[in-house]
Amino acid sequence: MRLDVVTVFPEYFSPLDLSLIGKARERGLIDLRVHDLRRWTHDVHHSVDGTPAGGGAGMVMKPQPWGECFDEVIDGQRRPHLLVTSPAGEPFSQKKATELAREDWLMFACGRYEGLDQRVVDYAAERMPVTEVSLGDYVLFGGEVAALTMIEAVTRLVPGVVGNSASLDEESHVNGLLEAPAYTKPAEWRGHVIPDVLRSGDHGAVDRWRRDQSLIRTLRRRPDLVAQLDESTLDKRDRHLIERAGIDEPDADQA
Ligand code: ADE
Repeated sequence: MRLDVVTVFPEYFSPLDLSLIGKARERGLIDLRVHDLRRWTHDVHHSVDGTPAGGGAGMVMKPQPWGECFDEVIDGQRRPHLLVTSPAGEPFSQKKATELAREDWLMFACGRYEGLDQRVVDYAAERMPVTEVSLGDYVLFGGEVAALTMIEAVTRLVPGVVGNSASLDEESHVNGLLEAPAYTKPAEWRGHVIPDVLRSGDHGAVDRWRRDQSLIRTLRRRPDLVAQLDESTLDKRDRHLIERAGIDEPDADQA
């Protein structure tokens, strides 16, 4: 997968040299290119922003450097899917990460200040798929941390990046639920013990326990996710737990 990031703070992306993403880059699974938007400025101050048309507080990223950046970075027939980070964008989610992981070229435009001049987005949308995406309902100084987060969420789903892909299937948000609590050795630690069922060797019972815990946790912490579950994925036991709303079932980590 090719990834281009356009930012006024390229240093924000140095963590992408580390860990599994760094290895995936070394192995050629991910071709990440970070561009400093100021490279396409021509004034002595390398300015990328201007005062908002119509007045008001803050500054807006001016269109000219973005236009020249697109001309240079997107030079052939191929077009990336452009993701413009903005608190006014569509919410990012695991579902969106899964969709984006199937694409072969993503380009992140990191907004700063009050964001990009809208014409940059409109111009790009005439030439390539464009999505304005938000990390969540809060405001950051700029889109760099949002882009970094999205890149991590997307690239770990690219085949080959994570060695044991089975681990990706059992994560929070993959089946619409939060993950069950996890434990490792020792069996007892500071008076806290691992639930017996996890030491029983009964795989069916372990699977059922995990499913129950996952549902109970989600009911407690994210009832909005339970409301969105596809009815056909629920069995009798799930329905019982949902009807009881997990009230009489202590979850392992809070009991
Ligand atoms: N820029 C500032 N806040 C943001 C957010 N929540 N998501 C994406 N980009 C942003």
